Amino acid sequence: MNNKTLGIIKPDAVGNGFTGKIIDKIISAGFKIKAARLMHLSREQAEGFYEVHKERPFYQDLVNFMTSGPCMPMALEKDNAVAEFRQLIGATNPAEAANGTIRKDFAESVQNNAVHGSDSDENAEKEIAFFFSSNEIHD
Ligand code: CMP
Repeated sequence: MNNKTLGIIKPDAVGNGFTGKIIDKIISAGFKIKAARLMHLSREQAEGFYEVHKERPFYQDLVNFMTSGPCMPMALEKDNAVAEFRQLIGATNPAEAANGTIRKDFAESVQNNAVHGSDSDENAEKEIAFFFSSNEIHD
């Protein structure tokens, strides 16, 4: 277990002014922010990040959404970070997300779902490296 995960505050949540409230929930849940950047993804970056979904019917819409405005990738640290963060953000579809989760409170739809969280330690490592070089991740 590497105790790190990659979170992204997605363009819907940034555009709706929820960045601060979401960061507050993340910190209150015991995560430490080890790296963060506000950035507007290029098409190439969004396609690369979500390449695993490229055969899915929603892929082009997802890329359009993720390039529609700035987002905030973050490297987050906590014991059992991947599972803990997925619990904090809630189900992919906000209609199914538990009360108190970030998606329940801030997401608009299954696509515009406010936040991303890595789904395994292996992907967390890859996704953190996708956005941050090692000298941008702070102790
Ligand atoms: P995320 O956790 O970032 O991983 C893949 C993303 O694809 C997901 O959040 C949603 O933004 C989007 N997504 C997943 N399932 C669907 C779906 N059925 N329809 C539209 N978008 C989806």
